[in-house]
Amino acid sequence: MAATTPMASMAISTVVVMLLSSAMAAHASGGGEKADNTSLVMEACKNISGEPFKVGFLPEFCASTLLSDHRSAEAKDCRDLALITADILKVHAAAMVGKVDNMLREGGRIATKDKIAARALRLCRADYGGMVNTLQICHNIIQDFGRKGKHGPTPSELPECVEKTTNSIKDCTAEVCSTSVARTMAMANEILEKLAIVSKALINLFLAGKKDL
Ligand SMILES: *[C@@H]1O[C@H](CO)[C@@H](O)[C@H](O)[C@H]1NC(C)=O
Ligand SMILES: *[C@@H]1O[C@H](CO)[C@@H](O)[C@H](O)[C@H]1NC(C)=O
Repeated sequence: MAATTPMASMAISTVVVMLLSSAMAAHASGGGEKADNTSLVMEACKNISGEPFKVGFLPEFCASTLLSDHRSAEAKDCRDLALITADILKVHAAAMVGKVDNMLREGGRIATKDKIAARALRLCRADYGGMVNTLQICHNIIQDFGRKGKHGPTPSELPECVEKTTNSIKDCTAEVCSTSVARTMAMANEILEKLAIVSKALINLFLAGKKDL
């Protein structure tokens, strides 16, 4: 709580109110039946920024991420939202594989002139590639939860799977930390890390809701 200044909370509530009223306006003009679930997104993002999840950054990162994906409009619950976030993270990780490949392109400045950065980038490439594979498995685990009887995933497997990707991101950040590409990679990794945190928090929110039933 100490980290939230009055200015920041004011900014948050302004954005939330703005998003909510545009969602309500869209709903009102949308002709009844085709209600979207923007309010589920707003509520879930608000909940993960409070107790006990306390995701330490603003709920609008969560909301703008989810609202940028058309599938959020059809989300039934927080499991669907967690799935969407995990998929968005997978797309970002795959894009990072491509980005690192470009940076390492044969004959490029880094590949020829900066062997230390190049080695670190190759390790990052492996981290991102692993994330893509892991997130496909996470997708299936989240989707299968509660649907495969006693052979299905246990609750702890869901957050643990996404947590693995956080470790990959941290590994990459550590590998490049004292190289010439540290800043570029830190900026990209910060977004990946936020996505992983939001996805995991949404999973835990979903599981917390299940316990009440
Ligand atoms: C958010 O938290 C409130 C209060 O605990 C709860 O009633 C609601 O179901 C939660 N919403 C979601 C989407 O988890
Ligand atoms: C919105 O969520 C509710 C459950 O909260 C679900 O019944 C409904 O189908 C969802 N709306 C759409 C458009 O998918």
